[in-house]
Amino acid sequence: MKVAAAFIVVLCCLAASHALTCKEGPRFYSPEQMDAGLGHVVGVDRYKRPYFLSGLSFYSLGSASLKHVTTGPSGTWGCDSYNKVYKFVAGNWKVASGYTLQQVDAGGPGQVVGIQSSSNRTQCLSEARALAFYGTGSLTWSYLSNVLMYVSCGPETCWGVTNDYKVYVAKIRDNCGRATGWQYVSRGMKMIDVGTDGSVYALSTSGLVYQRTAFSSRSYYGTRWTNIPMCMPIKHLTYDLKNLWVVTESRLLLVCTP
Ligand SMILES: *[C@@H]1O[C@H](CO)[C@@H](O)[C@H](O)[C@H]1NC(C)=O
Repeated sequence: MKVAAAFIVVLCCLAASHALTCKEGPRFYSPEQMDAGLGHVVGVDRYKRPYFLSGLSFYSLGSASLKHVTTGPSGTWGCDSYNKVYKFVAGNWKVASGYTLQQVDAGGPGQVVGIQSSSNRTQCLSEARALAFYGTGSLTWSYLSNVLMYVSCGPETCWGVTNDYKVYVAKIRDNCGRATGWQYVSRGMKMIDVGTDGSVYALSTSGLVYQRTAFSSRSYYGTRWTNIPMCMPIKHLTYDLKNLWVVTESRLLLVCTP
């Protein structure tokens, strides 16, 4: 049944005329959230088990129960259902005391950003602190912005969405230096992922996929959202090195390439 469903998806996605071609990704049962960075692909399933991709298969990544994972220049990080923060150290997850966060992103040039649970304030961990953490002691985060629901950073900018689905962007001065004011971009998005190359992909409230386009010297955050046709509603997405990974609402993993 599952195989048949996937087959139909692949046919239908191939038919879509767009610069990206999607096909079924490596087999990942019940994916919930994915993050790709620096060539690595990590994710969690609906049972909060973390995995990483090697070759054509997903393998368990350590033994913690996590609801969100991220990988990037400052390592591999995650958070659990109690919003405790973890870093992957010496082959397993090490919990970090300090703030509790409901989502973390390691996509920036070195800093890690996250959304504090309960207050939903965005917090930032500098590259030096992020790299140095090895599993003992507490992390010191600095305040980066007001209330967001989802945040993702690239080499120069951080993008966030609020709980009423408004999109904001900020230029980040040398990791965790105060954001230069958050700029309102548009509305209607529920999550955003910024690649390590600066590409920005977003997911609308109705599960449609958009790429931010028309970047220029006059508009560092672009002026348009260009729809990338998908044949099914999408639940989560991540982008790295020309690979766009999407998890459908029906929990199939697709990978789209140019
Ligand atoms: C805080 O985040 C939670 C989880 O994402 C969300 O349900 C809630 O609406 C957010 N609250 C505000 C004020 O953004």
